[in-house]
Amino acid sequence: MDVATGTGIVAIAAAHIVGTQGHVIGIDIATELLNQAKQKVATSSLQNIDLLEIDAEEYPLKPEQFDAILCSSAVVLLTDISRSLGDWHRSLKPAGFVAFSCYSATSFLTPAIAQACEMKGLTLPEINKTLGSPERCQQLLTQVGFSAINIQTEQRGSYLSVEQAKNRWDGKTWLHPNEPFSGLTPNQVQRLKADYDRRIESLGTEKGVWDEQTTFFVVARK
Ligand SMILES: C[S@@+](CC[C@H](N)C(=O)[O-])C[C@H]1O[C@@H](n2cnc3c(N)ncnc32)[C@H](O)[C@@H]1O
Repeated sequence: MDVATGTGIVAIAAAHIVGTQGHVIGIDIATELLNQAKQKVATSSLQNIDLLEIDAEEYPLKPEQFDAILCSSAVVLLTDISRSLGDWHRSLKPAGFVAFSCYSATSFLTPAIAQACEMKGLTLPEINKTLGSPERCQQLLTQVGFSAINIQTEQRGSYLSVEQAKNRWDGKTWLHPNEPFSGLTPNQVQRLKADYDRRIESLGTEKGVWDEQTTFFVVARK
């Protein structure tokens, strides 16, 4: 199963790998992205893949159903990551594996956003906090019963101009479903954005603002 398959990149690769002896289910909540995935499958020769529009946290997982559960760049978007990992563990066959990617807690200029929020008394559900370091990934996976945990770190990132870095956040958008911004007035949003912009300016160097995107590739066995 490929959780939060989006345009199906991972699900389609997996379907090619398992071949006619295997089967892949890709699930996502975004109709438009799933349509792109379906289009790709329709123009391929694949017969072993189903793409379903359903919330990953509502998918009726059965015990010992899957050999592998994959989730690329999306596990941090789930509302209860620990519960989902536990559910995935139960739904894997013995010796089945989970594989997902996630980012360091300091990626995507998150500290500047979190600090701006903190100054205004808002707690940001930091989408990269729960799994934001190899140690945290290891701890959470161990807690829910996984073993043979392997975490590869890739140092990624690039320099942005101060203007580009400022444009990365509008003062109110956060990908996690539990975002704290919906009740804010336009004035409050404007103040948050101004605080974020000041922090970005202070991060500027000759090369620009470093936009860290350190990625962890995590594999663990049941
Ligand atoms: C950054 S994209 C990653 C897509 C894909 N896995 C990839 O690597 O190309 C995040 C995806 O998570 C999906 N998503 C977010 N929350 C979800 C949920 N609760 N259930 C299913 N899909 C979800 C979004 O619709 C989006 O397709």
